[in-house]
Amino acid sequence: MTNKIYIIHENDDWVEPLRKELKVINAPFEEWHLGKRNVDHLNEPPQGVFYNRMSASSHTRGHRYAPEHTAVVLNWLEKYKRRVINNSRALALEISKSLQYKELESFGIKTPKTIYCSNKESILKSANIFRKPFITKHNRGGKGLGVKLFNNKKELDSHVSSKNFEPSIDGITLLQEYIDASPKVIIRAEFVNSKFIYAVEVDASEGFELCPACPEDQIDVPETQFFGDYCPTIGNKFRIIKNYKINSLIEKYEKFISTNGIEIAGIEYVIDKNGEIFTYDVNTNTNYNPQAERRSEIKGMRSIANFLKKELLSLYNIKVVA
Ligand SMILES: Nc1ncnc2c1ncn2[C@@H]1O[C@H](COP(=O)(O)OP(=O)(O)O)[C@@H](O)[C@H]1O
Ligand SMILES: [Mg+2]
Repeated sequence: MTNKIYIIHENDDWVEPLRKELKVINAPFEEWHLGKRNVDHLNEPPQGVFYNRMSASSHTRGHRYAPEHTAVVLNWLEKYKRRVINNSRALALEISKSLQYKELESFGIKTPKTIYCSNKESILKSANIFRKPFITKHNRGGKGLGVKLFNNKKELDSHVSSKNFEPSIDGITLLQEYIDASPKVIIRAEFVNSKFIYAVEVDASEGFELCPACPEDQIDVPETQFFGDYCPTIGNKFRIIKNYKINSLIEKYEKFISTNGIEIAGIEYVIDKNGEIFTYDVNTNTNYNPQAERRSEIKGMRSIANFLKKELLSLYNIKVVA
């Protein structure tokens, strides 16, 4: 039995760029699509490196319980001390903005003021504390689920009582201060092997992006009317920042992710008019923008493929020595 890289996921399309890179370097791999197949745990897991790419938005692709199933599978893998990249702790963060913000703050990373609401009544009541525009978003989000901008409580009232209101799949809706960025860009810092690889700037002058790489995401998200509905893979809204200096924020991100079992991630932040930085999203299931990467030496998926292969080889060497 050969050692392999196992890719745990629930979206075939998102795996395609990784498949391509793994084939180029002859790295053996197998996919576990946890929205489609069951993994029985009667036996020991196979030998190999397990890369968890489960997504918080899996329910929007008909895989309502794929994250829960993944949690069980990761428990089994971790029980048998398998090498898991983006482990059970990483999954817990992927599916909860509340946990992301708590952890970010414990590393001294500022997040926007946020209230967590478990029903419509509390959403309406909590909105009173915002004097400036605010947004709603889902605790278990991804692809901009539930992200809407409100200028005042009246606008929120009419939305929440309309049939367009959609609660988060885990029942928790966030109310969050809207960070008015100046200039109108957001930044996404990418990490592989818990180390920074590059930062991409997204032009948000016509609205904020929802997903940095996936055109599909733009199609079935009605919320895009509030944050711009352009497809990020078309045009050049995405630009890898040249000579981005590793700064104290990036160092904090690296510590935050490595402490939380996250080795591959994209972390998003925005800078307000006073120069204050707010971090608002941690993605453990990261995709890369092909247009932006065209002019870059560093390629996200290639970095992941090389990292996975390196991990597999070191595992194999350890086994031979033993
Ligand atoms: N507090 C905020 N202020 C301003 N814009 C925001 C804020 N939070 C999110 N956005 C915009 O909405 C987009 C989606 O929000 P995000 O928190 O990243 O949710 P998701 O996990 O669904 O990607 C972001 O990329 C950003 O453009
Ligand atoms: Mg995001």
